[in-house]
Amino acid sequence: MTALFDGVGLIVTNDPTNSDGDGSALGLIRDAAFVVDGSQLLWIGRASTAQPADDHHDLGGRTVIPGFVDSHTHLVFDGDRAAEFSARMAGTPYAAGGIGVTVRATRQATDATLRHRVGQLLAELASSGVTTIEVKSGYGLTIADEQRSLEIAREFTTEATFLGAHVVPDEYAGRRDAYVDLVIGDMLAACAPHAKWIDVFCDRGAFDVDESRTILQAGLRAGLLPRLHAHQLQHLGAIQLGVELGAASVDHCNHVDDADLEALASSDTVATVLPGADFSTRSDYADARRMVDAGVTVAIATDCNPGTSYTTSMPLCIAVAVREMGLSVEEALWAATAGGARALRRADVGVLRRGLRADFATIDAPSFVHLAYRPGVCLINQTWKDGERLAPRT
Ligand code: NIG
Ligand code: FE
Repeated sequence: MTALFDGVGLIVTNDPTNSDGDGSALGLIRDAAFVVDGSQLLWIGRASTAQPADDHHDLGGRTVIPGFVDSHTHLVFDGDRAAEFSARMAGTPYAAGGIGVTVRATRQATDATLRHRVGQLLAELASSGVTTIEVKSGYGLTIADEQRSLEIAREFTTEATFLGAHVVPDEYAGRRDAYVDLVIGDMLAACAPHAKWIDVFCDRGAFDVDESRTILQAGLRAGLLPRLHAHQLQHLGAIQLGVELGAASVDHCNHVDDADLEALASSDTVATVLPGADFSTRSDYADARRMVDAGVTVAIATDCNPGTSYTTSMPLCIAVAVREMGLSVEEALWAATAGGARALRRADVGVLRRGLRADFATIDAPSFVHLAYRPGVCLINQTWKDGERLAPRT
């Protein structure tokens, strides 16, 4: 079954070989059309050269972009931390310790509650144009609670990340070595079959560089691929550790020095910035401009979580990255699509090209620039994944 989508005012393909643009990374085509065959793209080009298909959708002059690739979320949790947010806005700084509040609520929740909440957040993400999502555990911190968090995450995505090393839970206070042993021992054994990635919160109040290396190396031995929360609160050396271990991504990166940027630029490790977290913790914004200028590959993700970034809006993250992190709208859109795909080492998403997945979103605007130009307005009209409409649901 093929479907022709025409009436496309402008399409962003992220394929620089497309003719219309100026050779820029976004690979723009104006007055475009495309054909979907099942879950894949069959053809993209000028509307004037389009061939008929079995089915037809007129997009009414809208802009089409690749579906957003959200490479960093913590969706499996219960409870909220609105009081902590209010206190922060009144001047209390963010600290890793708040994670324990969500851990207590999550441990008490039923599987059905957790599953329902993930589904609700995923529906919000789909309405904001997200088609690929990474989901971390990390609010269970017992063998059973980490395992069930990953089992639930895996019901929704292949990109599930074991984050047993989020913080040392209260019951291990004063016995952090014992907790690291648990994470790399029985917890890893229970969780590895349900995850693709392993992550560590390597920062002040969480895990140091040596602990993080031990945990990530154990994950690698268990067949998991490393990624890292790095330098959100402090410059600890986590970025260099991520590069050393071949991490797909180091995330947050609020504190970076020239050596970090050089190491990243000469590696396959992506720097993922999290505008929602910097916004909601009132932190100094990560300097994405400096990263791009240094030749680092940058991704943008929502970091959706109840503590530091309770947003599912990738367009808001793009607007903040443009306004506060110094990216152009073009760079920010690329970072939220193709950049996210690089951060997940995925070659089948983030780009619209023949043979790749038919994952795209339509924007109710003549240009993608409106994603940042109209902050806080949901301009996403439709979201399609694998050739099927995810949002709005009919
Ligand atoms: O990415 N920094 C560590 N993890 C989350 C926050 C978790 C929390 O505070 O609940 C983050 O911002
Ligand atoms: Fe995070």
